[in-house]
Amino acid sequence: MKESLDWQSKDVVNIYDEVNLWSAPFGRLLLENIPVKRESKVMDIGFGTGFPLIELSQRFGKGSKIYGMDIWEEAIKRVKEKIRVLGISNIEIFEQSAESIPLPDNDLDLICSNLGINNFENKDAVYFECHRVLKRNGSLCISTNPIGTFNELFDKFSDVIDEMRLDRSVSELKDHIDHRGTERSIISEIEITGFRLSKKVYDETGIRFAEPEAVFDHGLIRTGFLEGWKKMIPPDSQKEFFMLLLNKIENEINRNGEFMISVPVLYMEFRKV
Ligand SMILES: C[S@@+](CC[C@H](N)C(=O)[O-])C[C@H]1O[C@@H](n2cnc3c(N)ncnc32)[C@H](O)[C@@H]1O
Repeated sequence: MKESLDWQSKDVVNIYDEVNLWSAPFGRLLLENIPVKRESKVMDIGFGTGFPLIELSQRFGKGSKIYGMDIWEEAIKRVKEKIRVLGISNIEIFEQSAESIPLPDNDLDLICSNLGINNFENKDAVYFECHRVLKRNGSLCISTNPIGTFNELFDKFSDVIDEMRLDRSVSELKDHIDHRGTERSIISEIEITGFRLSKKVYDETGIRFAEPEAVFDHGLIRTGFLEGWKKMIPPDSQKEFFMLLLNKIENEINRNGEFMISVPVLYMEFRKV
């Protein structure tokens, strides 16, 4: 057994916030559903600052081998720090895109990805590689936010785009929404590489805001979404666009007391056949 950890030490405080709030509902669903088995070979694709990589390593234990793949250099430094503080020995990190996985055919029991697939530039290549390195009957388990994410906000985007007659932004908004895919389109994309859907769990959450500016000032939005939203609007129209958008959100808050944006939470498990 390892030693207790001192909760007052700088090292422990540094790693205490294991997973961010955006990732947590997806991670909860994933961890409640993945197949857990002794002496497994597992991979986490797109682990960011270590989730669920570190959690998988701790739940599967020393007898299992946990690989992680990501391309985010700064995040990987943080993961290595978590591994050091927790004294973890069963993780191996490949700092490269999962479009090419440095493992032999038919090697892994389980591949997980929490909120990964929307970020892969070449999803098909990743799915083909997952299929190659999984053993027969091995599982690919993903959690993701499909189309429907932030619906309420995108409806308002659409209204303002129409009002301002930003014709090119109409198709940009459609592409932006569609890049997430529906449950059906994600299943087709993955099944075409030789997998079969074996389990699906759907949940929903939402983010509630008390004032319009809070939506765009929020750290999550500024880190993960705002840049992509701005790109849909011509630079010389952005000031007016966001002012009109804020007015619409303000009206809704006056009517309902808050502004809520939906987040569909989807877990899907595929078996290599
Ligand atoms: C939204 S983050 C999710 C991070 C983490 N799984 C979580 O739940 O907090 C998506 C991650 O996928 C990684 N990523 C993007 N493209 C990738 C690729 N081709 N191969 C491996 N990781 C990739 C990003 O660097 C990022 O860490």
